[in-house]
Amino acid sequence: MVTRKPCIKKLAGFEYSVLPNVYKGSTDTELFCKILDIRKGQDVWDIGTGTGLIAITAKLKGAGCVLATDLNPDAVKNAKKNSRLLRLKIDVRQADVFGEINKKVDIITFNPPFTNQKAKQKHEISFWDKDHKTLRNFFSNVRKHLKPNGRAFIAWSSFGDTRKLRKIAKEFDYSLKEVGKKTGKRDFVYYVFEIVF
Ligand SMILES: C[S@@+](CC[C@H](N)C(=O)[O-])C[C@H]1O[C@@H](n2cnc3c(N)ncnc32)[C@H](O)[C@@H]1O
Repeated sequence: MVTRKPCIKKLAGFEYSVLPNVYKGSTDTELFCKILDIRKGQDVWDIGTGTGLIAITAKLKGAGCVLATDLNPDAVKNAKKNSRLLRLKIDVRQADVFGEINKKVDIITFNPPFTNQKAKQKHEISFWDKDHKTLRNFFSNVRKHLKPNGRAFIAWSSFGDTRKLRKIAKEFDYSLKEVGKKTGKRDFVYYVFEIVF
């Protein structure tokens, strides 16, 4: 699901560039783009932006300031490239989840790595998250980056452990409300959940 050579892909109504070592996007990305409900001028932060597609969709749906971050430097390059190609003003930066960025927004989105496995190479963080460290980091910091009445959304898939996701959310006193669901290749089911604080 990452490419060795740069390529062009079509998804969610876009033709966009995919650089080597970046997750090219699939049913999860498409579902997230579809369910994104943005009120005009709302500020959005897309964590783990990859090619930038969710951030781009947010901007095109009327978001005000859009921040897109990723730990993988190739993803940062890729999201910058795609926003430039579409002539969209998106602030793309490298950060480990929220990093040191001191910002509050109306909507936070994260399509995270789903599986508890060690990433041996940098691009593998698209899929593997040993002991769900990145997920826990996200849950532990998401609230303080939301404005009053802000909302946060997280994607998941049945090839990850959905019961475990709910259990980790509960450790932080959150529950998860399903707002999107789609079956993809090999009958894997993809979800988007809203975090209920
Ligand atoms: C499943 S991909 C989703 C990419 C893109 N948002 C999409 O939907 O196509 C997960 C993304 O999270 C990024 N990621 C993984 N661990 C991260 C971390 N600790 N901090 C920030 N981004 C991370 C990966 O580099 C990857 O781009």
